[in-house]
Amino acid sequence: MRKPDRTSKKPLYQQISDEMERSIIYGEYPPGSFLPSERKLAERLEVNRSTVVQAYEELRARGIVESISGSGTMVSNHIWGIRPNLTPNWRQYVEGGTFAPNLPYIRRVREVLRERESIIDFASGELSADLFPNEAIKQLMRDIPFEAYLGYDDPSGYLPLRETLVGFLEERLRIRATEASILITSGSQQSLYLIMQCLLAPGDAVAIEDPSYYYSLSMFQSAGLRIFRLPVKEDGIEPEDIMNLYRQHRIRMIFLNPNYQNPTGTILHASKREALLKIAAELGIPIVEDDPFSLTSFDHCPPDTLKSIDTHGSVLYVGSLSKVAASGLRIGWLVAPQAVVQRLADARQQMDFGLSIVPQWLANKFLGSDLFDQHIHFLRDSLSLKQHVMIRSLQQELPDQISFTPARGGLNLWCTIQDKLDDQKLLEEAIKRGVVFMPGTVFGSEPGHLRLCFARPSMDEIASGISKLAQAFHALTQKC
Ligand SMILES: Cc1ncc(COP(=O)(O)O)c(C=O)c1O
Repeated sequence: MRKPDRTSKKPLYQQISDEMERSIIYGEYPPGSFLPSERKLAERLEVNRSTVVQAYEELRARGIVESISGSGTMVSNHIWGIRPNLTPNWRQYVEGGTFAPNLPYIRRVREVLRERESIIDFASGELSADLFPNEAIKQLMRDIPFEAYLGYDDPSGYLPLRETLVGFLEERLRIRATEASILITSGSQQSLYLIMQCLLAPGDAVAIEDPSYYYSLSMFQSAGLRIFRLPVKEDGIEPEDIMNLYRQHRIRMIFLNPNYQNPTGTILHASKREALLKIAAELGIPIVEDDPFSLTSFDHCPPDTLKSIDTHGSVLYVGSLSKVAASGLRIGWLVAPQAVVQRLADARQQMDFGLSIVPQWLANKFLGSDLFDQHIHFLRDSLSLKQHVMIRSLQQELPDQISFTPARGGLNLWCTIQDKLDDQKLLEEAIKRGVVFMPGTVFGSEPGHLRLCFARPSMDEIASGISKLAQAFHALTQKC
C-alpha cells in the first residue's frame, strides 16, 4: 500500500481508507480476511496509529469491514453482496481450489510473525540469518565471473550443478548417483510435490511418519491421497507396521525422514533400516527418503542414509540446501531412477520451465569449493551450541514441566509437556508474552508436545524466549 501524500488537501485518514477500499475491491483482502493491525499499518505508512484507527472507522462506517473482538479488523463477508456485478466471487474461487489451505495453527503463527517483528521465533524451522553463508556467497559473486547460459535450460537442472552433486553426495553421504539420475528442484518441497503429482493418483494410500513435517501433510491432502500413519518411537518407526498397513490398505509409497526426523529429532535405528529396505523390496513399494538434515550432524558423522545402503533401487532420495545453507536459495535435489527423473522433469517443464539459473550457478560454485566445508563446520557447531543453550534454559525455567531427548542433528527440540495443557491456550499465552512455537498437534501428534526450533533465534533470544515460555506455562497452570 502506498504511503499517503502529505502535500494533498485530502486528510491522511481518508487517503488511507480510500486506498484500503481499493485494495479490498481488487481482491487483495478477500471477504473474511483480516486487515493489517492498526499499529503495523501505521508503522508501514509512517503515520500515527490514531490516523489508521480513524481510517478503519471510516471503512467500518461504509460497511466494508467489521471489528472482531480480540482478532482485529476483518473484511466484511457481505461485501460480495454489495458488489455482485463488479467483481468475481473470489471467495468461492478461493475456497474451491484443490490445494488444501494450511492448518489454522500455522496460519496463526505466520500471521503473528508477520505482524510482530520483535517476537521470539521458536516456530519456524529455519536457520537464523547469521548462520547463512552470506560471506561465502558474496565472495563467489564477487570473485567468479558468472558464466552460465541465460536461456531456458534443461528442466532436470543446471548440468554443472548435477555433476558437482554426483561427487558431493558420494563423498559426504556415500550416495552413488549420475548426473542423469539427479533432478534439481526448488527445495525439497518441490521434489515431494512432483513425486505426489506424477507418481501417485488421488485415492492412493501412502504411509507417513506420525508425527511428521506439517507442510507435507497439507500437500498429501491436496493430492487426494489416503494417509496412513507410522508411529515414530525413540528409534524411529517400526518396519513391521508397514507390512500391516500394506496388508490392510495396499499402501503404494512410504515417506520417511530417517535422520533427525522433523519434528521429533529421532534417528531411525540401523537395524530397522535394513529391515525396512527388505520389506519395501519384498512388497515392491518405493520409499521417499526426505533428508534435509543429515549434513547438520552435530558429531559430524550422520547415520547412513537409506539411499546409501539401498541395493534394490527402492529409495527416492530428496535433499536440499535449505537447512544446511540457505532456504532462500531454493535449491533441492532428487536422486531417482532415470525414468522417474525424466517423468518429473517433464512435469516440471509444464509447471515452470525449470528453476532459475542464478541460484543453481551459485549452489554449484558453493558446493564445489572449500567454502562449503568451512560453512558446514561452523553451522554444526553453532547449532549444537544453540541447542545446548536452549536445554540449559529449559532445565532452569521449566525443570518439572517439560521433558525431551536432545537432538543429535537438525534444528528442533521435541518436547513433551508433563501436565496436559491446552495447545491453543498455551500458544496464545506465549504470543501475549512475545514468543511463538509450534504445537505438536500441527505435526499430527497427540496433544501434549511442542516443537521448539533452536536454529532460528539468536543465543540471547533463546534464553529470554524460554523465560517467556515459562511465564506462559505458569499463567496457564495457575489458571487451571
Ligand atoms: C522434513 C522436511 N522436508 C522438507 C522440507 C522442505 O524444505 P525445503 O523445500 O526448503 O528444502 C522441510 C522444511 O522444513 C522439512 O522439515
